[in-house]
Amino acid sequence: MSDCLYYDRSVSTRISLPMNVSKAPLFPATIMPDKDWWQALWPDPEAVLREVGLEPEMNVVDLCCGDGHFTKPMCQLVYPGKTWALDLDPDLLGRAEQGCRDSPNFHAILGDARELPKQISEPVDFVFMANTFHGVPDKTGLSRAVHRASKPGGRFAIVNWYRRSREETTVLDQPRGPSTALRMDPEDVRQVVEPAGFELKKVIAVGPYHYGAVFLKI
Ligand SMILES: C[S@@+](CC[C@H](N)C(=O)[O-])C[C@H]1O[C@@H](n2cnc3c(N)ncnc32)[C@H](O)[C@@H]1O
Repeated sequence: MSDCLYYDRSVSTRISLPMNVSKAPLFPATIMPDKDWWQALWPDPEAVLREVGLEPEMNVVDLCCGDGHFTKPMCQLVYPGKTWALDLDPDLLGRAEQGCRDSPNFHAILGDARELPKQISEPVDFVFMANTFHGVPDKTGLSRAVHRASKPGGRFAIVNWYRRSREETTVLDQPRGPSTALRMDPEDVRQVVEPAGFELKKVIAVGPYHYGAVFLKI
């Protein structure tokens, strides 16, 4: 674990950006959406977490957690298991921390998702990544990092926009989400994740425009 990238909610409320992190670029097309339409699109994040298979007592990662929309229910669902929330943006991570201030099992990591194995203190049962995978330049490389961070039999869930035209995916009367060209079918995701040492176990529809692809570490 890299000390400079990890902090615990009990000892830190301010996040400074370490030099090596400041040079790491955000994945393209992964800016955190505005709260109004995000809440309208994802009114029940806990239901999504249950559908992809999170359970009490699991140790889990919310990879690229943003402002913590999924992190707070994740902490509550897996308790007393631990939740690590990782993001490269200190302001968003701070908002996630604030939202989870009453969760004793919350741990924040300011860092690059590609460095996940170096940033957690123990292998985890489940890595959850929502609304970000479409923008990752080296998707198999990122999946390898998740594989190294996972226990034997660990799971990796990717929540992604279906490959539909952006004009069709409206929320609050506006087209939303990444450009049509960046969207992937579940089969596209399978082809880039399985070479990292995972097997696709299930694909489920979540929300009006997304699927959850759940992989097992083999
Ligand atoms: C579209 S937001 C999704 C946030 C959250 N998963 C959700 O669904 O509500 C994508 C997030 O990925 C983060 N991100 C982008 N590139 C990253 C990287 N290389 N390492 C860690 N976080 C990254 C961004 O800062 C942003 O918070």
